[in-house]
Amino acid sequence: MTEIQKAVQLIRDKGANYKPIIGIILGSGLGSFGDSIKESIVIPYQDLDGFPETGVEGHGGRLILGRVNGTDVCVLQGRAHYYENGKANVMKVPVQTLAELGCEILILTNAAGSLSVEAQPGSVMLVTDHINFTGASPLFGAQGNSRFVNMVDAYDTDLRAAFQEIANQNKIKLHAGVYIWYCGPNFETPAEIRTAKTLGAQAVGMSTVPEVILARYFGLRVAALSVITNMAAGMANEELSHEQTIETAASGAEDLKILLTEFLKRNKS
Ligand code: HPA
Repeated sequence: MTEIQKAVQLIRDKGANYKPIIGIILGSGLGSFGDSIKESIVIPYQDLDGFPETGVEGHGGRLILGRVNGTDVCVLQGRAHYYENGKANVMKVPVQTLAELGCEILILTNAAGSLSVEAQPGSVMLVTDHINFTGASPLFGAQGNSRFVNMVDAYDTDLRAAFQEIANQNKIKLHAGVYIWYCGPNFETPAEIRTAKTLGAQAVGMSTVPEVILARYFGLRVAALSVITNMAAGMANEELSHEQTIETAASGAEDLKILLTEFLKRNKS
């Protein structure tokens, strides 16, 4: 059995009652949505072959099978990043596992810096498109024609419309914009942020893009939500730090929770 088959088997054995078609990956400081799921089965990444170690504070490292508002969901609480070991495909097994489990939709969340004065810390931005500024791809080394993944409308237009509608109904101001992936782990320089603005980005972060590429490769429809934790480098007087990312993420996490919960309600199994 491959590591994917083993992971899928274990998940099916433990959570026979769950048939999730929606997967969610929770980013830095955004794990509280996972903790709030009541009926759930939790599997630590250590028990799942090929799942990464998550060494960054604020990232749980647990797979949660649960039911929210009548909808089955598979939540990955915590991710590994390219900057942890220089491998852009570090989330390949988890994303492929979701696809093999039967998930058709992947919702990604992250903490991000804002390049737009309108999107202040604590607010949420729906990602409309991305710029991969690292030059790395999780598909390096993949074989066959399927590696030439089409990235037009990678952020599914129907899912984006659904999140905008949910935000309006719940009086949540949902910003929308382009996310640029810098590799980290250092924060960007002010000159890099000016460059990113010139290129057309509204938010900056160190994750998500490789998972979007992988998800599209495996045929999943994708949406991504960024919780703005800070103004990007050079845009405000405060010092950037991971502690601040985690702290501010918690304040934006409330709106995020509403958006995710209502989205699941719409997609009752
Ligand atoms: N830059 C990169 N990643 C981030 C930031 C930032 O300003 N804030 C949260 N994650």
